[in-house]
Amino acid sequence: MTNPITNIDTVLASFQERWSPRILTQVNDYDVRLAKVEGSFVWHAHPDTDELFIVLEGRLDIHLRESGEETTVHLAQHDVFVVPRGIEHCPESAGGATVMLLEPTGTLSTGDYDGAIPAHIDSTTGVEV
Ligand code: NI
Repeated sequence: MTNPITNIDTVLASFQERWSPRILTQVNDYDVRLAKVEGSFVWHAHPDTDELFIVLEGRLDIHLRESGEETTVHLAQHDVFVVPRGIEHCPESAGGATVMLLEPTGTLSTGDYDGAIPAHIDSTTGVEV
């Protein structure tokens, strides 16, 4: 047994950047990531994977676009939601939120988005802690 213990509170206290997920740990071929979010992300999809969101604190809206139809899911603390693979989505949090994410290691946070990356967003496969 060589895996280190990691701690959610310690990792959350170690950074302030928004939209810059930290890799809390890995399980099989997946990252468990922690992100602080505020404001709006960019529209994107992950063609090869679902993406799991667990809201630890605050409120997170996820706008979804499918077959030209736009809907929004409103997530509150401890809500759990999976964006299916290939579905365009744009997370947004007016008041700020802390989110746990589960997705395959190497998954780019901005997915297939190919525009200019706004300054308040980190386009990353997750930052090591
Ligand atoms: Ni995504």
